[in-house]
Amino acid sequence: MAFFRNVSLSEPAPAIVGAGVSLRLPQPGDYAEWAALREASREFLTPWEPIWPSDDLTRGAFRRRIKRYVEDQRNDLAYAFLIFRSQDNALVGGLTLANIRRGVAQTGSIGYWVGARFARHGYMTAAVRAVVPYCFGALRLHRLEAACIPDNAASVGLLEKTGFQREGYARGYLCINGIWHDHLLYARLAEDPK
Ligand SMILES: CC(C)(COP(=O)(O)OP(=O)(O)OC[C@H]1O[C@@H](n2cnc3c(N)ncnc32)[C@H](O)[C@@H]1OP(=O)(O)O)[C@@H](O)C(=O)NCCC(=O)NCCS
Repeated sequence: MAFFRNVSLSEPAPAIVGAGVSLRLPQPGDYAEWAALREASREFLTPWEPIWPSDDLTRGAFRRRIKRYVEDQRNDLAYAFLIFRSQDNALVGGLTLANIRRGVAQTGSIGYWVGARFARHGYMTAAVRAVVPYCFGALRLHRLEAACIPDNAASVGLLEKTGFQREGYARGYLCINGIWHDHLLYARLAEDPK
């Protein structure tokens, strides 16, 4: 049945443009800026992310990361984006659409981060608002999911501001910073109001 087939993209995902930001697949040349921003934001990010492997910020690990992103995208499993501020092309963060399930689900989950010095400037709001139409349009998903630790006020605020609805509470849902945390579950449907 045509409706349930996988999306087959012969070209890599295009750059996506939002209000004051643009998003594209990470490239090898992004390494230095990415590693510097992640290192400078370590204290800000690590409470909310899976434990960083000891070699996470090395050039070799970044190369492997990009290889995985390219393969995942080719296989329609995940789409990773870096987010750049339009005015000066500075790297501000990242957004990944992952865990894509086709068939009767047509769903995926988003995860995101911004560098500490770029927080609360509206960049992730702009990035999410730009990616959602791509997910429901070109990628033909029907549902977008996101989950966050209840104490993560920034993530809760972001999801509610960008039209995600709280649907539930999952116990011990993800291992974040080495601990299995309960999570709030959010989702947006293609037919939800914009
Ligand atoms: C969550 C995160 C990506 C938000 O990115 P951001 O670019 O700072 O978000 P925005 O500036 O677009 O803010 C969107 C909304 O989120 C909420 N918010 C953002 N930062 C907040 C903070 N420090 N305290 C409370 N609410 C906050 C607000 O509701 C805000 O809307 P408002 O500014 O109109 O009030 C960022 O805080 C981050 O990277 N945090 C660390 C990593 C993380 O939590 N990842 C997600 C794991 S689920």
